[in-house]
Amino acid sequence: MCGIAGFIGERETVPLLLQGLKRLEYRGYDSSGIAIADDGALRVAKSVGKIAALEDKLAALGGFAGKTGVGIGHTRWATHGEPNERNAHPQLSPDGLVAVVHNGIIENHASLRAALEAKGHVFKSDTDTEVLAHLIAEERDAGFSLPDAVLHALRLVSGTYGIAVIDAREPSLLVAARKGSPLLLGLGTYGTFVASDVSAFVSGARKVIYLEDGDIATVRRDRLDIRTLDDVRVARTPAAVDPAAGAPEKGGYEHFMLKEIHEQPEAIANTIRGRLLPLDGTAKLAGLQLEARELASIENIVLTACGTSYYAGIAGAYAFEQFALIPSRVEQAAEFRYRNPIVRPDTALVAISQSGETADTLAATREAKRKGALVLSVCNVVGSTIAREAGRGVYLHAGPEIGVASTKAFLCQVTVLNMMALLLGRTRQLSNPEGTEMVKAIESLPELVRRTLEKEDEIRRIAERLAGAKDAFYIGRGYMYPAALEGALKLKEISYLHAEGYHAAELKHGPIALLAEDVPVVACAAKIPGHEKTLGNIQECRARKSPVIAIATEGDGDIEALADEVVYVPPCAENISPIPVVVAEQLLAYHVARLRGEPIDQPRNLAKSVTVE
Ligand code: G6P
Repeated sequence: MCGIAGFIGERETVPLLLQGLKRLEYRGYDSSGIAIADDGALRVAKSVGKIAALEDKLAALGGFAGKTGVGIGHTRWATHGEPNERNAHPQLSPDGLVAVVHNGIIENHASLRAALEAKGHVFKSDTDTEVLAHLIAEERDAGFSLPDAVLHALRLVSGTYGIAVIDAREPSLLVAARKGSPLLLGLGTYGTFVASDVSAFVSGARKVIYLEDGDIATVRRDRLDIRTLDDVRVARTPAAVDPAAGAPEKGGYEHFMLKEIHEQPEAIANTIRGRLLPLDGTAKLAGLQLEARELASIENIVLTACGTSYYAGIAGAYAFEQFALIPSRVEQAAEFRYRNPIVRPDTALVAISQSGETADTLAATREAKRKGALVLSVCNVVGSTIAREAGRGVYLHAGPEIGVASTKAFLCQVTVLNMMALLLGRTRQLSNPEGTEMVKAIESLPELVRRTLEKEDEIRRIAERLAGAKDAFYIGRGYMYPAALEGALKLKEISYLHAEGYHAAELKHGPIALLAEDVPVVACAAKIPGHEKTLGNIQECRARKSPVIAIATEGDGDIEALADEVVYVPPCAENISPIPVVVAEQLLAYHVARLRGEPIDQPRNLAKSVTVE
C-alpha cells in the first residue's frame, strides 16, 4: 500500500528518495511523486505507473540533480480519486510552498473541504490529502511555524495518517507525524530519513525510531524533537535497524514470489530454530513472556487476521482445539473490531499478521486490549506496530516477504501456531510422548516442504490445464479447508482467474450449480480424517463434468481413478497437512500466472500491507 520516503541531510536528495521508493515498490502502488525544497520554491515531479516512469519524468523536467537538503517521496495506492498525476502525492498548498505526502485516510475530508471551499480555496485533486495541505497553509498564513501549523491542522482531522511535510520557506526542516499508519525515522550519519517501512532506508541508517500514534516529529539536520498532539514533548528510544530488512534480491529467480516459495524450507527452519524441546516434548516461546501457570489459565482463544493470515488462523484454531482442548475461533479482523465481540479476562487474542501493520488487525488488537484480553501477536516484521503494541508474541523469522501474494508467511504462521498449540497442550492434558510426537512432526517440516518443491515440473505441466479456465473451485474439509481457501486466494491474486475456496461439503449448497466441464475443481485431498468424504465430494464434481486436479498424499491408491490430475505430496501429521498442500497450490498459482503473462510480484490493485480499513 502507499509508501513514504523522505530525507533531510547532507547528501544529494533525489537519488535517496528514489532508492527509498524503489524499496517500497513491493507494497503495491499505482503512481508516485517527489518534492524537494530548492531556493525558496518546491520542485515537484509525479507520474502514473512505476518508479521508472517517475525517473523518466525527472529527467525530462530537469533541475533535480545535485540538490542537497530536504525532500519527500511517495508511492500511492489509490483510495480517494483514480490513479493519475493530479491525485498522486505530494499534494501541495494553494501557494505551492507546502508539500504533503500521506498514507491513511482523512475521514472528515469532505466536511473540511467544504469549509475550505466556502472560504475560497480551490482544490486541484480528488484526494483527502490535499485538504491537509490546505489546512497547513492556512495556519502558515496565520503566522505559525511549520511544526505548529502541522500540529494545528492535525487536530482538525479524524482518520488515519502517516505524513511527511516540507515547506520551501523552511528548507532546514521536515515534519513527520503518525496516527494509525506506520512511520519511522532512520538516523544516519549524513542525515535523517523518514519512511513508512524500514526497508526504505536500511543502508543509510543504523538506528530507527518508531513513531507512536499521535507523535509529531520536527526533524532538523542536527536536531530532532518529538511531541504529541497535546503539545507535550516526548522521548522515543532509538532501536537498532534490523539488517534483514535490507535491499531485497531475487537471487536468480524470475520473481520474488518464486524465490520465496523456494526458500520456505529455510524459512520454517528459522521459525522453529531453538524453539522445540524434544526431551520435554514441548516448545519454548520466550516472546510470549508467559509462565506455564498463566498459559494454563487461558480458557478460550480468538484468532484474528486478514487475508492469508486469516486462513493460517483457521488451521491454528483447529490445532489449539485438537491439542490444547481450548475452545478457539477465528474472526476476520474487520468484523472483530466493529462487532463488539465477547472478550473475557481468560480470553487470549492471537493477532496474526505478516506485516504487523494491517489496519483492521491492529484495530482488533487494540479493541481486545481495551476489553482486557491477553493479546499475543504472531508477526513477521520485527518492530511492527502490532508486535510492539501487543508487547508479547512470537516472531516468524521468515525473512522479508516481498511478493505481494503471501507464501512463506503462511507456512511459518501455521508452524508457529502449531508450536503454540503444543505449548498450551503441554500445560494441560497433552502427555510428554504425545508432545514429542508433535515436536517430531514440526521438525520434519523443512524436509516435507523440500520434497514437495521437487514436484514443481509436474505442477508446471498441470498449470497448463488450469491456465485457460475462467473459473475454478478449490475444495477441502478439516485441515484441508483452510488449504482450499488459501489455494483459491493465491490463484485469484496473481493469475486474475476467478477462483473460490469452499468447504467440500458446502459446495453442494449452491456453488455446485456452477460446475461444468470448463470449471475445474482443485481438490485438497491429503489423507487425513474425513478423506473418504472428500473422495465422495470429488465424485460429485466429476458427475458434473468438472475436471478435477487433486492434491493428495503419496501412496493414496484411491485418488487416481477419480481425478484427472494428481499432485502427490509427502505424508505428514494431520495438523501440519495444510503445509505441503499449500506449497503445491502456490506453485500451481505461480505457474498459471506465469503462463498467462501476469505481473506476479505486483498484481494489479493489491497491496502488500493494507494500512487502511
Ligand atoms: C494483504 C496482502 C495479503 C495478506 C493480507 C494480510 O491483503 O496482499 O497477502 O495476507 O494483506 O496481511 P498481514 O500483513 O496482516 O498478514
